[in-house]
Amino acid sequence: MAKNLVVLTGAGISAESGLATFRGNGGLWHQHRVEDVATPEAFARNPELVHTFYNMRRQQLKEAHPNAAHHALARLAAAWRGDFLLVTQNVDDLHERALASCPPCAEENKPEGRFRLLHMHGELKKARCGACEEVFAWEENLSTAHLCPACRLAGHMRPHIVWFGEMPLEMARIYAALRACDVFVSIGTSGNVYPAAGFVHEASGHGAHCVELNMERSLGASLFHEGRYGAATQRVPEWVEEMLRVA
Ligand code: OAD
Repeated sequence: MAKNLVVLTGAGISAESGLATFRGNGGLWHQHRVEDVATPEAFARNPELVHTFYNMRRQQLKEAHPNAAHHALARLAAAWRGDFLLVTQNVDDLHERALASCPPCAEENKPEGRFRLLHMHGELKKARCGACEEVFAWEENLSTAHLCPACRLAGHMRPHIVWFGEMPLEMARIYAALRACDVFVSIGTSGNVYPAAGFVHEASGHGAHCVELNMERSLGASLFHEGRYGAATQRVPEWVEEMLRVA
């Protein structure tokens, strides 16, 4: 019978595409205080500062390209016959871009599809109106002067990002997949932030084989059955090749 797979990714998978991680040397949280740029209170206090932080990141994303790890996961998604959930904590669109070069997965990524990509911490290339909650595709800089394209109110447009203290997205669907998966793999995440840091516990508790692929042992490394350490552009394609032999 086809096996079910859940893949969790974090900032480490995009590091070799030139996007900064959060906690390593030179990480975003060494340059900015979470309390200043990544909480609802920060946005209420100084929305322009928060917009500037995410505008910069949205601009950087234009220079970045998917790397060998994103492409390997897209190949696996295309070939996998069981259910495949790719859940990312990343707000970049590098998984989408890798998947777009792989037509079978782009086709499958639908609510009823066998393959899904979910952004549990939101997406840089979307904006949301804090008044009417409508979500919009958004490529350009965001400011307090923008009107909501739906309700026409000014001053409420915000990045579609889950800030600290807010509820991550799609949790019911993610937990259902974790309980039903045969293999859980965590890639490029330090295991500092819940609920994602607890996914290994949930999957393992329901019988999944759990694998960590990361530059170094994460905080939850001992909860995995297997850990392979090194750069994502090396470890992920190697692991994908092994999985493709059993797909
Ligand atoms: P972190 O910055 O906490 O961790 C990144 C992990 O990737 C570390 O364990 C690194 O060792 C590893 N790493 C770095 N370069 C790598 C490479 N080339 N190949 C493989 N691994 C590499 O980032 P996350 O765990 O993703 O949330 O952070 C989780 C959440 O914390 C983020 O989604 C963000 C942040 O606060 C919000 O903003 C809500």
